[in-house]
Amino acid sequence: MMEWTDRHCRFFLRQISRHCLLYTEMVTTGAVIHGDRDRLIGFDPAEHPVALQLGGSDPKALAACARIAESWGYDEVNLNVGCPSDRVQSGRFGACLMAEPDLVARCIGAMRDAVSIPVTVKSRIGIDDQEEWPALKGFVDTVAETGATRFIVHARKAILSGLSPKENRDIPPLRYDLVRRLKAERPDLTVVINGGITTLDAAEGHLAVLDGVMLGRAGYQNPHVLADVDRRFFGGAAPPVTRDQVVARMLPYIERETVRGVPLKAITRHMLGLFQGMPGAKSWRRHLSENAHRPGAGPEVVETALALVRRQATAAAA
Ligand SMILES: Cc1cc2nc3c(=O)[nH]c(=O)nc-3n(C[C@H](O)[C@H](O)[C@H](O)COP(=O)(O)O)c2cc1C
Repeated sequence: MMEWTDRHCRFFLRQISRHCLLYTEMVTTGAVIHGDRDRLIGFDPAEHPVALQLGGSDPKALAACARIAESWGYDEVNLNVGCPSDRVQSGRFGACLMAEPDLVARCIGAMRDAVSIPVTVKSRIGIDDQEEWPALKGFVDTVAETGATRFIVHARKAILSGLSPKENRDIPPLRYDLVRRLKAERPDLTVVINGGITTLDAAEGHLAVLDGVMLGRAGYQNPHVLADVDRRFFGGAAPPVTRDQVVARMLPYIERETVRGVPLKAITRHMLGLFQGMPGAKSWRRHLSENAHRPGAGPEVVETALALVRRQATAAAA
């Protein structure tokens, strides 16, 4: 997710679940090819398994970027066919590609020929005035002819003219039924559902008939929701990590990164939701927000924020 799932965010989420697959922000092919790669696609080995999401529509450029992703050690490379922003449309990639399944198939074919890591697609169920089911089925069938097998479907349309990117994440109704129908009609494909899923119980419901669940906003805004993922879905034996343990696991990383010159805020901004719904959540957020940007701020700011949470939790329990 753009501006959200950068490397610090992914490292943090990895302290909560060892096994869930993490995705980068969308990075355009132009940026990967011409930009500062270390800044754009660099990641910590602890983040595995991690997928690089690309934005683009030129098969050659996408193949080159897929090769780069593989050589950097990514576990998967994903093509974004779901982002509705104007900036993305003018570059002819993102959700507008739902109208060009043949072009997407050429892109995916070129990427698949270039690498041996999985090449996956994240799409919508349709755009604008497309009829949803024929659009989704036609899109997936065409792209699957390249041999692609893993499709992540954000189960709502994107309306490219008239709705903002934010509105496009909430307003067009969710059609989980169409994603389920896709799996029923194409059981040979791996179908992952996305959109509006906020709890592991809901995820489990989907997993009864689908192959995977992608959490977007819930995983960011309430990251501790991921704490029981390993035990519930990956056969892990360990009990869910506590919020305090997550903070403890982050401290050495924060120490290392801030010593390297990374501003504390670049890390802690992703941690603000850790105590979501718990006593002390507000103090946690406030202390981090008010102090993490100060010059020289380091792990002690996070330790103090945790102490404030503990104090309030103790008071609430008394
Ligand atoms: C801030 C933000 C940035 C996003 N950036 C991307 C992106 O780069 N690539 C992408 O495929 N989806 C992106 N999305 C969409 C989410 O991946 C997801 O499809 C959408 O939010 C619906 O799922 P959810 O209800 O679980 O959040 C973004 C969403 C948000 C809120």
